[in-house]
Amino acid sequence: MERIMISGANRGIGLEFVRQWLSRADVQVLATARSPQQAGELNDMAGRQLTVLPMDVSDPASVRSAVARVAEAVEGLDLLVNNAAIKPPDAEQRLATLDPDSMLQTLRVNSLGPLLLARECVPLLRRGSRPRLVNISSGMGSLSRKQSGGQYAYCSSKSALNMVTRGLAADLGPSGIVVCSLHPGWVRTEMGGMQASLSTHESVAALLRVIDSLTHADNGSYLDPERETIPW
Ligand SMILES: NC(=O)c1ccc[n+]([C@@H]2O[C@H](COP(=O)([O-])OP(=O)(O)OC[C@H]3O[C@@H](n4cnc5c(N)ncnc54)[C@H](OP(=O)(O)O)[C@@H]3O)[C@@H](O)[C@H]2O)c1
Repeated sequence: MERIMISGANRGIGLEFVRQWLSRADVQVLATARSPQQAGELNDMAGRQLTVLPMDVSDPASVRSAVARVAEAVEGLDLLVNNAAIKPPDAEQRLATLDPDSMLQTLRVNSLGPLLLARECVPLLRRGSRPRLVNISSGMGSLSRKQSGGQYAYCSSKSALNMVTRGLAADLGPSGIVVCSLHPGWVRTEMGGMQASLSTHESVAALLRVIDSLTHADNGSYLDPERETIPW
């Protein structure tokens, strides 16, 4: 039985992760949403294999109480997927029109939130079997690939998340927890837009192949859906 927790599971890539996990017999999924009462598609799948819990990753108290409820449901976690994130409108992220509050909120949700959730889950992950901690990053977090201007908030938040991955890999790797950043590709969701190249089904199927194959050699890595290493 694989015990899995994921953030931001009410739509987009997070919802598709839940769908594909539930097509397997031997999983127990603890899926979180900011507003579970509005998470219709996720709630429709709830049952023996799926518990839906409220969690806002920008609120440390909400993160603590969600993980406390997870700890009541499972003795350990085999996989944590930090998926929830925001991307502000382009205008708020341009040099000339940068919105400081929007940038700080983006860092809070996309970089600090995953770190706080990871920290709360460490005791559960330590009791997991083959435990893995996956931060859903973005190719836009790559410093060396950044050639265009703008997108200051989102790109910086994913670069910071990548640094969180490296720190967690050093802190937790020695106790057997594999930590990595994964880029899902450009995916047709509210965030990715309808012009994106991959469906959520294609992206998540590829990400699951990567996640299923993670070993200690991958600790601290930054991988794309083809399992290629992305330069930091
Ligand atoms: N789509 C792409 O092309 C693409 C490319 C690269 C990386 N990514 C990454 O892939 C992940 C999933 O993206 P997506 O395309 O599925 O985005 P999405 O459709 O916009 O979904 C984002 C999810 O995050 C949740 N969320 C936002 N703020 C939250 C908070 N404070 N606390 C808890 N949950 C929160 C949303 O919940 P609400 O419904 O309550 O807002 C929603 O469930 C993100 O980390 C994103 O950065 C996506």
